[in-house]
Amino acid sequence: MVKICCIGAGYVGGPTMAVIALKCPDIEVVVVDIFEPRIIAWNSDHLPIYEPGLDDVVKQCRGENLFFSKDVEKHVAEADIVFVSVNTPTKTQGLGAGKAADLTYWESAARMIADVSKSDKIVVEKSTVPVKTAEAIEKILTHNSKGINFQILSNPEFLAEGTAIQDLFKPDRVLIGGRETPEGQKAIQALKDVYAHWVPVDRIICTNLWSAELSKLAANAFLAQRISSVNAMSALCEATGADVSQVSHAIGKDTRIGPKFLNASVGFGGSCFQKDILNLVYICECNGLPEVASYWKQVVQVNEYQKTRFVNRMVSSMFNTVSGKKIAILGFAFKKDTGDTRETPAIGVCQGLLGDKAILSIYDPQVSQEQIQRDLSMHKSELDRPPHLQPASPTAIKQVSCVWDAYEAAKGAHGICILTEWDEFKTLDYQKIYDDMQKPAFVFDGRNVVDVDKLRQIGFIVYSTGKPL
Ligand code: NAD
Ligand code: UGA
Repeated sequence: MVKICCIGAGYVGGPTMAVIALKCPDIEVVVVDIFEPRIIAWNSDHLPIYEPGLDDVVKQCRGENLFFSKDVEKHVAEADIVFVSVNTPTKTQGLGAGKAADLTYWESAARMIADVSKSDKIVVEKSTVPVKTAEAIEKILTHNSKGINFQILSNPEFLAEGTAIQDLFKPDRVLIGGRETPEGQKAIQALKDVYAHWVPVDRIICTNLWSAELSKLAANAFLAQRISSVNAMSALCEATGADVSQVSHAIGKDTRIGPKFLNASVGFGGSCFQKDILNLVYICECNGLPEVASYWKQVVQVNEYQKTRFVNRMVSSMFNTVSGKKIAILGFAFKKDTGDTRETPAIGVCQGLLGDKAILSIYDPQVSQEQIQRDLSMHKSELDRPPHLQPASPTAIKQVSCVWDAYEAAKGAHGICILTEWDEFKTLDYQKIYDDMQKPAFVFDGRNVVDVDKLRQIGFIVYSTGKPL
């Protein structure tokens, strides 16, 4: 029986390995992590991450051929294929701070693999890493290898949170990069055989290592660039009376452009887009390509501009001050169908409003009060650390309360601010909400989920992203 071990039981390691276990009953899969509470949660009825369909998959194979363990070294030593899916956040200190990827966790995982291995292994980069990381990892592994043969593969993950299970079941493609030597090609084939259990072979793309590593950064940069492009258009729509939804629809009908990823918003969030583009910018700078670096940097800058613009528009429309005013925040996660708040635009928007002394009542169906308080009170560099290195409990911010209902959040509020596109926000009883609010009652829709005409008929003053007033 082939044995797989995955280091890192996070948003990628957990779901990806659960799907491999489900689709490959002949393979034993063990997911390991140094953060014990996460492993305990993976072994319980309350999985550590919220992802539609994940519970079902885990229930079907946990204890059969899928295991979660904190016994990292033992399972790495026993594995034939070791996936490394640890976090690779942006460096906060030292050379490349604010841009380069922090490979501390990756390096320590590689050193541990070298230390504990007693048999040949395929080591798979699942984390998103800078191009050429495999070369550095190879050096670490072979330097300490005691004659053991390690083959490094790059197999970046393209799942999106909220749709991870369906993305894993039916990926647009699986990408595997390896060395162009006979041993490298053999390793590629071994990993290809795993995916071929359920992915059509014409969707498994094999490349050299550097193309695979760079393709991951490029894919995220292209996706984020579409959002910044449409968000830049949304500013122009607000200034001219055009409607960004109509513009997106019209341009998306061009088959060369396509309709996806053209929803204007308060800005993109999530743990990866910003970090991966900054990483790309840094790589371009290091390779003497400042023009290319500044091209990609604009994608992040427009995203920052979009968040600031949203807050400024809110404050200026509410008579230039929100001081002492209750504002209902609907949605805190970085997108719907996840409880993940990493880099969520809600953090910047809430901090902007708190800076103007607003009082916030926050509701999100999947994010806990504790998480919201952490996100709003902790420094970004602390939030970027893996869970086991984060401070225990930060001091709660008094002007922020978290409630478990949108109606409760809006009671007595001057304005509602929609920051995540949860489906339930489309079907709220807005008449009831209006009746319980201060007047004039404002709605600021950062995700374009509400029916603007209907809300205006009720009496709301509605500001939607990229839409005429
Ligand atoms: P995560 O923070 O959810 O999980 C990483 C886990 O690795 C943590 O639980 C941490 O405790 C563990 N870890 C760190 N160092 C370890 C070590 N030495 N030994 C054992 N465990 C260790 O991160 P994630 O969202 O799963 O992302 C992982 C990687 O995948 C990142 O490089 C990210 O860019 C990439 N990625 C993420 C997504 C996504 O949707 N989140 C999608 C594609 C790619
Ligand atoms: C993204 C990519 O879609 C995945 O392919 C990739 O694997 C992953 O990053 C990663 O490397 O981490 P994810 O961040 O989970 O996935 O979610 P997306 O659906 O891409 O959304 C990212 C952000 O963009 C969200 O805040 C979302 O609300 C926003 N968005 C998305 C828009 O504002 N407009 C859109 O049209 C689409």
